[in-house]
Amino acid sequence: MERLQKIIAQSGVASRRKAEQLIVAGRVKVNGRTVSELGTKVSPGDDISVDGVLLEKERLVYFLLYKPVGVISSRKDERNRKTVIDLIKGVSERIFPVGRLDFDTSGALLLTNDGELANRLMHPRFEIDKTYIAKVEPIPTREQLRRLASGILLDDGMTAEAKVQMITSNKEKGFASVELTIHEGRNRQVRRMFAALNMEVLKLKRVRYGSLNLDGLSAGESRPLKPHEVKMLYHLANREKQ
Ligand code: URA
Repeated sequence: MERLQKIIAQSGVASRRKAEQLIVAGRVKVNGRTVSELGTKVSPGDDISVDGVLLEKERLVYFLLYKPVGVISSRKDERNRKTVIDLIKGVSERIFPVGRLDFDTSGALLLTNDGELANRLMHPRFEIDKTYIAKVEPIPTREQLRRLASGILLDDGMTAEAKVQMITSNKEKGFASVELTIHEGRNRQVRRMFAALNMEVLKLKRVRYGSLNLDGLSAGESRPLKPHEVKMLYHLANREKQ
């Protein structure tokens, strides 16, 4: 979401200052309604008109990034560390990550300028599945796996049911790889779920986000989504679960 005056200025119709005057004068409509308040936020998909003439909309773009470890999942970092935006070259649209992966987590991250889709995908109501592979220490017991699956009490409440599967375990070294599919998106949720069971996550990778996986990408690489993939995400984001 961006301020209306900024979007008008970016479209080239008027300077930022002139755009503010147009808004206050009641000459701007958003989705058919006059908006005369400065600071109103709009998304790239909104219809904005000035004196009845529609502004050209920014093209909606969608990218899947294989986020490497050591990169920040935001547009900017106050400590000037590399961000996921720095990894996607040659895009003039103002894309942003849909949700976030920790600095030390790798894997599938969607970036777009489609605010409406992003909001839906991030809303817990739509329960988009996210699958992680966690390398953990020590090796979880069956009872601990059962607890991960049925729900764990964290400081922000019980986690919802999850799908859990042990992938490999190394008895000599005392660690295991566990696949975990959750549909919530709480901060550092996977690490906190294991921590609640006195386990440490040594490595964490998101291998699937909704209908998207990392096939064909190496860490640091991205690709535009195909039209049918965008359609599928819209489908997932429209499907409310009970
Ligand atoms: N859970 C975490 O703990 N970290 C992530 O980056 C994503 C999910």
